[in-house]
Amino acid sequence: MIEVYAGKGNSKYKICITDKALPKNELNKVIDKKAKVLIVTDSGLPNAYVRTLKQSIKNSNVYVHIINKGEKAKSFKNYQQILKKLIDLKFSRTDLIVAFGGGVVGDIAGFSAATFLRGIDYIQMPTTLLSQVDSSVGGKTAINVPQGKNLVGAFYNPKLVLISTTYLKTLSEKEYKSGLGEVIKYAFIDNQKLRSLIENNPQKIINRENKILIKIIEESIKTKSKIVTKDEKESGIRAILNFGHTFGHAIEAFTGYKKLSHGAAITLGMVIASKVSFFEGHIKDYQLENIINLINSIGLDSDHSNYKYSALKKYIMNDKKVANGKLNLIMINKNYKAFRTNKFQVNNIKKAFNV
Ligand SMILES: NC(=O)c1ccc[n+]([C@@H]2O[C@H](COP(=O)([O-])OP(=O)(O)OC[C@H]3O[C@@H](n4cnc5c(N)ncnc54)[C@H](O)[C@@H]3O)[C@@H](O)[C@H]2O)c1
Repeated sequence: MIEVYAGKGNSKYKICITDKALPKNELNKVIDKKAKVLIVTDSGLPNAYVRTLKQSIKNSNVYVHIINKGEKAKSFKNYQQILKKLIDLKFSRTDLIVAFGGGVVGDIAGFSAATFLRGIDYIQMPTTLLSQVDSSVGGKTAINVPQGKNLVGAFYNPKLVLISTTYLKTLSEKEYKSGLGEVIKYAFIDNQKLRSLIENNPQKIINRENKILIKIIEESIKTKSKIVTKDEKESGIRAILNFGHTFGHAIEAFTGYKKLSHGAAITLGMVIASKVSFFEGHIKDYQLENIINLINSIGLDSDHSNYKYSALKKYIMNDKKVANGKLNLIMINKNYKAFRTNKFQVNNIKKAFNV
């Protein structure tokens, strides 16, 4: 089992990554024997996973709360229902939540833990590739409201993150590829080792082989934890985690969040941001080619020709990365490292959409 740490001081936490089944010992080590436990999960997870997890927790008071699967379930109503359950079951400050599922479950269960009784402990047990490499680490929790996604939330670190690649076998192709999009993002944020791992093992990654999965998850998390530990509340360097997001979010908004998975949209966003970086002179043509080849090598789509600048412009300028009327873009430099800048020619964005 691989161990990585994130957070600092009292809120430092361990991330365990294994290619074996659920590491029961790690789980039971952090749960007080007398604590009540609420497992929050969603209707898309195979029942057997939830049954096994429930049986693995040694405590006598283990409860399960199932929300519907899908982004819509990250709602205020479901949040209220989780709180109601915690109150009905008389949960106290020493009790605990286990978030067992993808990013939707992690975000809503984490936000419930952050706010119930001003904060109780929670464990992240992510079961999608996206949540294993990204959302379970960093302490961002949130729910959606009608006015927008993730508008209500808190920074609140988990007590432990437990990752088993065995869960990934049942993930749909679309969700798996969505997670791979985030892996690519970490490869281009600042991780030469991750880039080489992908370059040298594309077929093993496509085949979901445990041995390679565990390595790419470890590398992605190391990059994320290094950045989020430096900047827990996203006031500086953490912004580079948004590589591909300005254009990716614009594509998601333009398509009504229906056509593409989040990771697929972010992948197209990274391609466009890399092209802007090329036109701005930050990378050479062969480097742009390398980036696109790497994306394609693991079965991800890099073709953004369906999306035109003229149609996406209003979403791009609406992005939360616009500060004082100037758009901050995350670009990539000649060392394949992402960086933030608001110095660029708008014309180069237009050119990037057209090639
Ligand atoms: N907090 C953060 O830092 C952060 C970062 C990125 C994304 N997010 C959030 O994450 C969410 C997306 O997460 P996601 O991509 O994991 O989607 P998701 O949570 O909706 O899960 C995708 C689907 O996979 C199913 N599923 C989960 N595990 C499975 C398994 N092992 N086998 C079969 N099916 C399984 C789920 O039931 C669901 O239908 C978004 O709400 C996004 O805002 C949060």
